[in-house]
Amino acid sequence: MISCKFFTHSTEFLLWARKSKKVSHYYNYELMKEINGGTQMRDLWTLPAIARWEKLCGKHPTQKPLPLLARIILASTHENEWILDPFTGSSTTGIAASLLGRKFVGIDKEKEYVELSKRRRIEIEDPAKREEYRNRIARYNNQPLLEIQEI
Ligand SMILES: C[S@@+](CC[C@H](N)C(=O)[O-])C[C@H]1O[C@@H](n2cnc3c(N)ncnc32)[C@H](O)[C@@H]1O
Repeated sequence: MISCKFFTHSTEFLLWARKSKKVSHYYNYELMKEINGGTQMRDLWTLPAIARWEKLCGKHPTQKPLPLLARIILASTHENEWILDPFTGSSTTGIAASLLGRKFVGIDKEKEYVELSKRRRIEIEDPAKREEYRNRIARYNNQPLLEIQEI
């Protein structure tokens, strides 16, 4: 078997991009440090692979884990800000954005994935699910509780 002859691929890159060099990007240094147990956040994160609880509404072939998108959003946005994902797939970015009190617009060329995104959005209208998913995000991001203003 070819897969038994190599190291398992286990990393993906995050790219930072901005429109203009004149406008500085936002980086929540203090929160990232807290999440990393009190020392500066490293650029190599080990987070669990996508789990069954994330696929209750159906799945996308390259769906990202919710705690990963949550960390990215916490690192680079403020509460109430707008986030755009023009390649939204199952909208993991949007689900994390909503759970973390951000606003979201997602675009996908496949109707099937837009429908999946809608089902995921409806799922978190249930207060018990919101609470469960926020707790999961908090657990994987070393936070006892995420204090988020509901919008
Ligand atoms: C890597 S997936 C995103 C997965 C997503 N992060 C998630 O967690 O489910 C990229 C998505 O971009 C969509 N896509 C590709 N080209 C596109 C385009 N030109 N316009 C809109 N969506 C596009 C694909 O249909 C696919 O669902």
